[in-house]
Amino acid sequence: MAQITQTLAKEILDSRGIPTIETTLTIDNERKVTASVPAGTSTGTHEAVELRDNDQNRFYGKGVLKAVANVNAVIGPAILGKDPTRQTDVDQILVNLDGSLNKSRLGANAILSVSTALCKAGALAYNLPVYKYLFAKYRLAKDPPTFPTPTFNVINGGKHGAGNLDFQEFHIIPSTRMSYSQALQTGVEVYHAIDQVLTKHGAIHSVGIEGGFAPNLYNNSDALELILEAIRTTKYKYGEDVFLGLDVAASNFYKGGKYQIKDRKEPFSTKEFIDYYKGLNDQYHLYTLEDPLFEDDWGSWTTLTKEIGTSTVVIGDDLLTTNKERTLKGIAEKCCTGILAKPNQIGTISQAIEVITIAKNAGWQVVVSHRSGETNDDFIADFAVGVGAHYTKFGAPARGERIAKYNRLLDIESELTAKPQAPQTNA
Ligand code: PGA
Ligand code: ZN
Repeated sequence: MAQITQTLAKEILDSRGIPTIETTLTIDNERKVTASVPAGTSTGTHEAVELRDNDQNRFYGKGVLKAVANVNAVIGPAILGKDPTRQTDVDQILVNLDGSLNKSRLGANAILSVSTALCKAGALAYNLPVYKYLFAKYRLAKDPPTFPTPTFNVINGGKHGAGNLDFQEFHIIPSTRMSYSQALQTGVEVYHAIDQVLTKHGAIHSVGIEGGFAPNLYNNSDALELILEAIRTTKYKYGEDVFLGLDVAASNFYKGGKYQIKDRKEPFSTKEFIDYYKGLNDQYHLYTLEDPLFEDDWGSWTTLTKEIGTSTVVIGDDLLTTNKERTLKGIAEKCCTGILAKPNQIGTISQAIEVITIAKNAGWQVVVSHRSGETNDDFIADFAVGVGAHYTKFGAPARGERIAKYNRLLDIESELTAKPQAPQTNA
């Protein structure tokens, strides 16, 4: 049995230049694993709580020294000598130590840094890559695991982009028929084609925090038109090789019971907004539609899913927050047909896996997702393959912290498709 012999956390920076926490676990006094945690910019109200120092003298209050101290002084001693392969048991120790409903006492960031490191340590104890370890442990995927299809966030609006779009993410989704490396190439080529089209139109653009372009456009649906124009300049066919998706993150522009976006002067009532989506879907055949409505309006989600859920994957992110109770409610009320799974929304790896299991058993599509604030830790790529996610959401194919995940998936793909070496003969 492997044993945890040291737990050491420190403060590092994420891709937004905001502090986050990194934890190193030592097992059996010799082998080490390190894990860091991501953070959201457009977080759901019902997510587990990130502990920040709120000391205005450091990083505008965003420091995580309290969370670091909680790992070093509280969590570390409690898991000393524990077996890292007992993920659920050790995660339960962390949950009990925290004692709150939303992990606000020790911090979900502190807890997840340890829980993720534990998962890596468990894999190391078996000398397995993390995706194979997860697969062998939880059997959530076929053998060998089918590869998730990457979805690329190529235009960033809302809280993610400096441009003027209300919708947060405009996605391109390569056909699930493609191998991962073909899908990656497709995503990259369309991404560069969008750059060219934006330049041609003189639409001012920089990139947003997930690496997608952040242009100023007349309205939100113009961004979809622009992507279609870009696809037409490539060898890929829209509707055959590549599809469109949205993460609207609608709670961010839901005010006083209405949805205010630049596509119409008057704000939309919920019923009008559902009709707007039906029209948008008739025009663009959205493959996925994430967070189309306010995060607590369960009944309207059910109505929308009834209308478009057979042709479009309606994905709950802020609605479900990788939370077991909310996911069970979403399933019972038929609010969506897919879930965005983010371990840091709930704070431990075993709780995230429990939610994914529930979603899969309900026949939902599972999208394993990064956060807008990321590090170069590529754990989430192994996690996505290991739990048999249908899709990944790792941002644009640009910026080091996103590329780390895409490149890790390339490694995993080549491991999974490698032909066994023929035995050498001396003939
Ligand atoms: P976040 O956004 O990581 O900034 O919270 C991602 C999302 O809404 O899917
Ligand atoms: Zn989202």
